[in-house]
Amino acid sequence: MSTLPPSVRLETGRGGLPVVRVTAPAATAEIYLHGAHVASWVPLGRQPVVWLSAASRFDADSAIRGGVPICFPWFGARAGHPEAPQHGFARLSDWELVEAHDQGDEVVVRLRLTDSDATRASAWPYMFSATFTVVVGAQLSMTLDVINRDTTEFTFEEALHTYLAVGDVRSTEVSGLEGTPYVDRPTGPDPLPGEPGPVRFTGLTDRIYLATTARTTVRDVAGGRSISISKDGSDTTVVWNPWVDNARAMADFGDEEWTGMVCVETCNVRDDSVLLEPDQSHTMTARLEVSELSTP
Ligand code: BG6
Repeated sequence: MSTLPPSVRLETGRGGLPVVRVTAPAATAEIYLHGAHVASWVPLGRQPVVWLSAASRFDADSAIRGGVPICFPWFGARAGHPEAPQHGFARLSDWELVEAHDQGDEVVVRLRLTDSDATRASAWPYMFSATFTVVVGAQLSMTLDVINRDTTEFTFEEALHTYLAVGDVRSTEVSGLEGTPYVDRPTGPDPLPGEPGPVRFTGLTDRIYLATTARTTVRDVAGGRSISISKDGSDTTVVWNPWVDNARAMADFGDEEWTGMVCVETCNVRDDSVLLEPDQSHTMTARLEVSELSTP
């Protein structure tokens, strides 16, 4: 790794895990090497945008609860592999800090994960290189680049499972997915027709919106702000809030915390999985931006 600029420090974070602390002119951020996990992004003068559970574990065997877990190379359960960890091995793996540099007012941090004995023995045994590039500034940009280093084609799923902090999910709306068919995970595998209005939250919400490249906007009425998520190279968007019972069922999620978060996930999953031939690569980017809430 080349020398880090003064805006980037590699320190010991929670649970003794290495963390990259970024101080850019317009924002701060924290990225754990464990999972290449963005655990914090705070634009100057604003409340944290990325939500982190107060009950999160910080240890080598667990995924961090909140932030931006990287789900790769599968999403959810791995069919035919009950032993495989939910959402893939990337969020449980230690990534390498490759380099970091200033770029104008922004700070770029690049991390990498490649196949290892453990991944080659997993439910997805291929040779690959995954590079995660985080650009910290007034916007947060996150890019996952996957290269097939194997001699055979492979298919993978991926998600930047972004937890966003909101004042109250019960008065939050997500627009941009109007009319988009979705799989409602709690009720069944068959896609439902899209709904005419924005997504509103009145109970467990766990939806996979298929074949959508749309920018989404989280209208956080209680928090007085809106967060937009634009994306490239992503054909799926997942929206998730666990609500009361599912929050209680998770040991690493506070019982009352579900009101203060929503996940809007930039993904390629299910029918939108990515097929790569040897030496081919695929790039997926999510960009977050915050603004004051404008009245409709
Ligand atoms: C979402 C899934 O993306 O992640 C949900 O759609 C799941 O079904 C949620 O419950 C959290 O997953 P995990 O493994 O981090 O508890």
